[in-house]
Amino acid sequence: MNIIVLNGSPKGDLSVTLQYVRYAAKKNPQHSFQYFPVAQNIRKLEKDEAAFNEIMDAIKKADAVLWAFPLYFLLVCSQYKRFIELIFERKQEAAFAGKYAASLSTSVHFFDHTAHNYIHAICDDLQMHYAGAYSAAMYDLMKKTERARWLAFAESLFDSVSRQVPVARVHPKLAAQSFTYEPGPAAVGVDAAGKRILVLKDGQKPAGNTDAMVQSFVGNFRGDVEVINLSDLDIKGGCLGCCKCGLDNICEYEGKDGFIDFYNEKVKKADVVVFAGAIHDRYLSAKWKTYFDRSFFNTHMPTLTGKQIAFLISGPLGQIANLRQILEAYGETQEANLVGIVADDAGDSKQIDLLLAQLADTLVRCAAGNYAPPVTFFGVAGRKIFRDEVYGMLRFVFQADHRYHKSHELYDFPQKNFKIRRLNLMMTLLTKIPPFRKKFLKILKEQMVKPIKHIAENR
Ligand SMILES: Cc1cc2nc3c(=O)[nH]c(=O)nc-3n(C[C@H](O)[C@H](O)[C@H](O)COP(=O)(O)O)c2cc1C
Repeated sequence: MNIIVLNGSPKGDLSVTLQYVRYAAKKNPQHSFQYFPVAQNIRKLEKDEAAFNEIMDAIKKADAVLWAFPLYFLLVCSQYKRFIELIFERKQEAAFAGKYAASLSTSVHFFDHTAHNYIHAICDDLQMHYAGAYSAAMYDLMKKTERARWLAFAESLFDSVSRQVPVARVHPKLAAQSFTYEPGPAAVGVDAAGKRILVLKDGQKPAGNTDAMVQSFVGNFRGDVEVINLSDLDIKGGCLGCCKCGLDNICEYEGKDGFIDFYNEKVKKADVVVFAGAIHDRYLSAKWKTYFDRSFFNTHMPTLTGKQIAFLISGPLGQIANLRQILEAYGETQEANLVGIVADDAGDSKQIDLLLAQLADTLVRCAAGNYAPPVTFFGVAGRKIFRDEVYGMLRFVFQADHRYHKSHELYDFPQKNFKIRRLNLMMTLLTKIPPFRKKFLKILKEQMVKPIKHIAENR
């Protein structure tokens, strides 16, 4: 069997993820593996169509394609995203159609599912037979049981391909959109009340209705709103994954392009940040992805704490629940208040006018009141994953994160709570005594609500 490995790590051969593939290849010498470092070579593949076509030719001859990538900001890295865009821009879908596919990632399991959902949907769009996802923690391969698990997955992939098992499409085809948003006159006249409002947009074509939405949104304010086009920024390239930023948040690109100054001076100092862009395949553009990846020089520290944010999206957002989840999770994990998402797939200019006007008003109201909502599973789980990783294995690489976690008292492991530990011990022992156990179960509901009921009634 001939398997094409599309290496999605900017680190190329030094990819952690790639070691999983090499291991599976070594254990299965009866199959041939061909490796293409598409994320690392993205510049070349953009410029040199012959080099890109060489990969397409290899895919045409292959039995299966393995998408092997690291997680970058809830998805794949910007370079890999760009490679996927090139497939569609250069109309190479036919090379993939009918091939079996699987995805493999390594990560710390922070939104690994959204990245695999994305690749799965891309495989469905390419009419591939998607045989499954394998999400490994970075160093799983060092454990015997995990090696066995990974080999079992690989074996089941080979088996699916050799038996040509039928595979159902999971992500429906996106319905085409041809709506042109025509903004009406701005109605509200929102006073920005001294709040710094920043709109970031991506001018990359096709931009759909993005510009019109930005103009209409900005037109709702009295006073200044700064609009920055990502294409006007001096960004030399995507995140390299070198993790040099881990020690002191000093990025490899520092002094080499304008991204870090822009991020520190504009994004971090704004009160309200609005992100505007068009959907390209099943995410925003690779340009937007570059923005998110490059913000990793702040490592695992949130940079939008207390800010009000919103997204203006052109494209079929209503058909891509995974993208909505990514946007919502981004807001929560950055500790921002995601005030709203306005998309043009409403398909009604008047309705979009109203939504944009309302959004402008709500953003300023929330900024004035410093509103910060409680986080849901996204925010809570994300914080706990980072807490454990930074405390443990990642600490010596991400020393700046460790200092941040200490100074913000984020090392809130439950085992430090001695009062609760004593209570647990005592109650566990007491509930072993039958009469106590009986009484305990009888009054449990009442006791559970007692402390909070007291507050509700007396504060
Ligand atoms: C810019 C950047 C963003 C990352 N984002 C995530 C993420 O969203 N979720 C996650 O679990 N890990 C994330 N990671 C960790 C990598 O996915 C992880 O280290 C991976 O094993 C690297 O694989 P590679 O060596 O094959 O590139 C990120 C790392 C970098 C450098």
